[in-house]
Amino acid sequence: MKNIVLIGFMGVGKGSVAREVVKHSHYITVDTDDLIESMENKKIKTIFEEDGEKYFRNLEKNIAKWLESSVKNTLISTGGGFYKQENLKKIGTIVLLDSSFDAIIKRIKEHPNAVKKLKKRPLLSNLKEAEKLYNERRPHYLRLADIVVDVTDKSAQDCAKELLKKVKKHA
Ligand code: S3P
Repeated sequence: MKNIVLIGFMGVGKGSVAREVVKHSHYITVDTDDLIESMENKKIKTIFEEDGEKYFRNLEKNIAKWLESSVKNTLISTGGGFYKQENLKKIGTIVLLDSSFDAIIKRIKEHPNAVKKLKKRPLLSNLKEAEKLYNERRPHYLRLADIVVDVTDKSAQDCAKELLKKVKKHA
């Protein structure tokens, strides 16, 4: 089984879909933000505050190299900026979770842990800036994706099922 690399904007539901994929398949899952947090023993938010975004991006680069050389049979959920890694395509099949910006913000705001979800993401603190970032990134996400799953108005479970079906077809 080739790795699956889940990309997409902050809050689109990568973590939720990854958990559902694991329930319905033999994949195991890792999350690049979780790997970084345990490596540094700090929250992402604290890394941004104390060490800066450049430092964080360098950690992502190290993780990308490690994923390429050492990780197999895994669904890799990535941070929204991880798509920039040069070796992304070498890590596995790229699956984009796609959604409009408004639907993403609606999804976060409706979540029972909305405040926490917004707080832990430094790049979502200013919604105007975040929308700009979304518009900059979306064409790149689409260009890189081998598979696109539109998550609008779908449960994580349905997205996971669609993802697995499309991955099987793509192989
Ligand atoms: C980021 C997304 C975050 C996290 C960091 C930067 C980004 O991950 O990696 O705050 O640049 O889009 P999520 O996409 O899981 O929120």
